[in-house]
Amino acid sequence: MSRFWSDTTRRISPYIPGEQPQDKEYIKLNTNENPYPPSPRVFDAINRALSNLRRYPDPEGMRLREVIASYHNLEVQQVFVSNGSDELLAFAFMAFFMPDRPVIYPDITYTFYEVYASLFKIRNTLIPLNEDFSIDIKPYCTNGAGVIIANPNAPTGITLNLKEIETILASNPDNVVIIDEAYIDFGGETSYGFINKFPNLLVVQTLSKSRSLAGLRVGFAMGSQELIEGLCRIKNSVNSYPLDRLALEGAIAAIEDDQYFQETRQRIINTREHIKPSLREMGFEVLDSKANFLFISHNALHAGTLFRELKDAGVLTRHFQRPRIENFLRVTIGTEDEMRAFLSLTKDIIKKQHKSLDKKIHLI
Ligand SMILES: Cc1ncc(COP(=O)(O)O)c(C=O)c1O
Repeated sequence: MSRFWSDTTRRISPYIPGEQPQDKEYIKLNTNENPYPPSPRVFDAINRALSNLRRYPDPEGMRLREVIASYHNLEVQQVFVSNGSDELLAFAFMAFFMPDRPVIYPDITYTFYEVYASLFKIRNTLIPLNEDFSIDIKPYCTNGAGVIIANPNAPTGITLNLKEIETILASNPDNVVIIDEAYIDFGGETSYGFINKFPNLLVVQTLSKSRSLAGLRVGFAMGSQELIEGLCRIKNSVNSYPLDRLALEGAIAAIEDDQYFQETRQRIINTREHIKPSLREMGFEVLDSKANFLFISHNALHAGTLFRELKDAGVLTRHFQRPRIENFLRVTIGTEDEMRAFLSLTKDIIKKQHKSLDKKIHLI
């Protein structure tokens, strides 16, 4: 605490991102980054953009918005771009929720929602996930609060289907419903097709995961013109140029190279499906993730122990010390080689654990 801090600075509990270690090379399966590089076209586009850095970028990011709009068959006024989807979510909380218009979301989900609700003093209600970590949509259908749902949810990877999302949208005509589709390209059903039918829908996506651009910081939203205008008003009150020239050009190139995108996302989906049975054979419960990560829990080895042992062996995963999920590990899908290494190390750790258990039983 510092005496110079405002009340807000004292009150908030900032988000804690996954480790980005600098001490040694890890097999990094902890922050849901893409194991493949971005499309080669991205590098060419960024190189070209370098020559004009003395000029401010386009504050509205019009060319990128046009490319996104045309990819999704929308009008440019239905698209908003931002410095990563985290920034976009912050803008959306400011633009659409307020102390007497609260927001609801699952008890287990992306923890930034909690941070933004607290930062902007928005009343929030957490709806418990079902026992099996699926979402019961009934509590979201009251028209009494704004809604934010990650689909697929994080860190479970479990999805809602389009029928369920449509029901939530139809039963909330007076509230904004944000569907955070950070992981949608790995197997879920995107809801942007509802935009012309439901003016209360905001779909948020990112280029960080499926387009391998976590380092460039580009997110975007799709929604009715009135919602996009609301986001623009907030953006223009915080930062006129959230996306720099390199990010704008790199993002355009990534979206235009659809063949590369389709190939790499399919590779990740294939790897994910390929390793599920091996994990189950080893004694893991594996949730039915449609994202670029798996959420797993072992029947004999605590997730905290496995996390530490894997880290010592050079593999980083994510362990959340939170109620209901402290015995789960979130494992990002890496390359096939990385996942082979992860599986083999995990097998060794489990074997070692069994041996030490056998020894203890023997001693008794
Ligand atoms: C559910 C969800 N939404 C949004 C984000 C933010 O992504 P970015 O700010 O990189 O676009 C993440 C990142 O991990 C996420 O898991």
